[in-house]
Amino acid sequence: MAKKAKKSSESLVIMTELVLPNDTNTLNNLMGGKLMHWMDIAAGVSAQKHSNRIVVTASADNISFQRPIQLGDVVTLRAKVVRSFSSSMEVYIEVFAENIPSGTKFRSHSAFFTFVAVDQGGKPIDVPELIPETDEEKELFDGALRRRQLRLVLAKRMKPEEATELKSIFVDQNIAKAE
Ligand SMILES: CC(C)(COP(=O)(O)OP(=O)(O)OC[C@H]1O[C@@H](n2cnc3c(N)ncnc32)[C@H](O)[C@@H]1OP(=O)(O)O)[C@@H](O)C(=O)NCCC(=O)NCCS
Repeated sequence: MAKKAKKSSESLVIMTELVLPNDTNTLNNLMGGKLMHWMDIAAGVSAQKHSNRIVVTASADNISFQRPIQLGDVVTLRAKVVRSFSSSMEVYIEVFAENIPSGTKFRSHSAFFTFVAVDQGGKPIDVPELIPETDEEKELFDGALRRRQLRLVLAKRMKPEEATELKSIFVDQNIAKAE
């Protein structure tokens, strides 16, 4: 029986952490690996909320570190599922850093994670469809297919010639240029 579709907002997870000395490098900045650990947890909980299943991380896209997060900053992670496929779910995660005493806050990172829902034996299992509601959710939903194709091509799980959605971006651009 098909699972009942769920809204993107039902998978929202907001996680708050305080950067402590044990989380930092020798410059007193948050270690990249520690941040990725928190991102993996917040995104994984979000995928669990959507699927009501055990989930495993299949991939994480493009995490770049542009501005350091410092000792004593408060880090807020905001994650939600933006599209589901058969057993996999794409989660969009944003990270904000805040220094409460100085009143400064900035958006430090965003990334897409893919989680796969599995049964007790680790075998992929179907997840509910996702319903996007807001304009942002609809935009993220629409872009998810080409992001999925790109990551599957890079992981050598899809032949480039099968990535039709991805190809259509370049083909459309070429047509636009020719016109
Ligand atoms: C992810 C995993 C469950 C996929 O299992 P599999 O037997 O290869 O299953 P399939 O080929 O049927 O793929 C299942 C889903 O995973 C997705 N997937 C597999 N590899 C992927 C990747 N690198 N990036 C994104 N999605 C991926 C597939 O697209 C498919 O999605 P769909 O069902 O929505 O179409 C398996 O590779 C695994 O257990 N990996 C280790 C996970 C883990 O331990 N993570 C912690 C990091 S150390």
